[in-house]
Formats: sequence, C-alpha cells, structure tokens
Amino acid sequence: MEFKKCVETRRSIRKYKPVKISHKDFEDIIELTKLSPSWKNSQIARFTLIEDDGIKNSIAQTCVNESKNNQITISNAPNIIIISYIKGQSGFNNDGSFSTTKGDRWQMFDAGVAASTLCLAANSKGFGTVIMGIFNEDKVSQIIHLPQDQQIAALIPIGLPDVVPKCPPRNPTKSIITYL
Ligand SMILES: Cc1cc2nc3c(=O)[nH]c(=O)nc-3n(C[C@H](O)[C@H](O)[C@H](O)COP(=O)(O)O)c2cc1C
Repeated sequence: MEFKKCVETRRSIRKYKPVKISHKDFEDIIELTKLSPSWKNSQIARFTLIEDDGIKNSIAQTCVNESKNNQITISNAPNIIIISYIKGQSGFNNDGSFSTTKGDRWQMFDAGVAASTLCLAANSKGFGTVIMGIFNEDKVSQIIHLPQDQQIAALIPIGLPDVVPKCPPRNPTKSIITYL
C-alpha cells in the first residue's frame, strides 16, 4: 500500500470480524515495527500477542473497569497486542542516571514510536488496531506474567475491521505549525 494512503486510511478500529490473526501476519507486522527508530537504537519495545480467549476475557473483565467502551472493544477483539518495554535503557546513562531532563519518559516515547509503526504496518496488511491507554497496568502485568524488567506501555486490540470509521476532525495544519 502506498505510504500516503496507508497513513490516510488508518483509523482506530473498535469493531472487528471474529477472525484471529495468524502468526505469519503478526510477525510480518512486527518485522516492520522493529524498524522504528529508538533511543540509541536500544530497541526496548516488546510485543505480546494475546491469543487465548480466557486471558483476553480476564483482561476485559478485571483491567478496564474505568472504561466501559474499552471493555467492549477488548471483549469483541479477536486478539490483543500488549506493547511493553525493557526498563532502564532508553533515556538512561550506563551508570543508571538520566541522560536528559525528561527522565524516564523516553521509554514511553520509544514505545509510542513503535506503536505508531505497528498500527500503520497493520493497516497496510488490512488489519485494524486501536491504541489503548486506559487500563490497569498492574493487573494486566499480573495476568500476563510480565517479566520484572518490563513495563506495559499500551494495549492494542487488532483484527480485521468490521467498520469503516470517518476520520475524526484534525486541527488546521497552519494552527499547529510555528515558523521562527
Ligand atoms: C496514547 C493513546 C491512548 C489512547 N487510548 C484510547 C483508549 O483507551 N480507548 C480508545 O478507544 N481509544 C484510545 N485511543 C485512540 C484515540 O481515541 C484515537 O487515536 C483518536 O480519537 C483519533 O482517531 P483515529 O485514530 O481514528 O485517527 C488512544 C490513542 C492514543 C494515541
């Protein structure tokens, strides 16, 4: 798919066909995702594909109580990708001190860059995604037995879209640019 079309047609998808993603398609998407830039090429992002409906339903029932909409989206999604990152590398010096005044926030930045590539790569293969920020991080970490050296950045349900949403309004281009 042409880049412009891929960016223009990517939408947050919250309704999916009941078809699970194959390992081949998932790995193709991660092959592209791993080409994302990262702090000193530290490549801290990790990707867990939830295929087991029991685990998925447990996340839906216990980890997103603050958002009924997210609960419905997760329950109906065929698969969930959990994007996590290895702690203590991105934004850190070798002695463990922060490299910049942003402290540890470069970790989430790197995960966000990867999440963006992932959503575009998924769209280029016909898969819909939605990045989810509203969830209980501790509970999801427990359910998926997240390794101690990692932290969860976001949940990304993925599947074949069952809707074609309109693009939500965007700011006028000139209003978000400054020339100095
Ligand atoms: C950091 C972040 C967190 C988000 N959290 C949620 C969420 O918890 N639930 C949800 O349905 N959408 C969530 N979204 C999706 C946004 O609502 C969506 O990207 C925005 O409305 C623009 O729509 P579009 O992605 O179709 O262009 C999130 C997006 C980002 C980037």
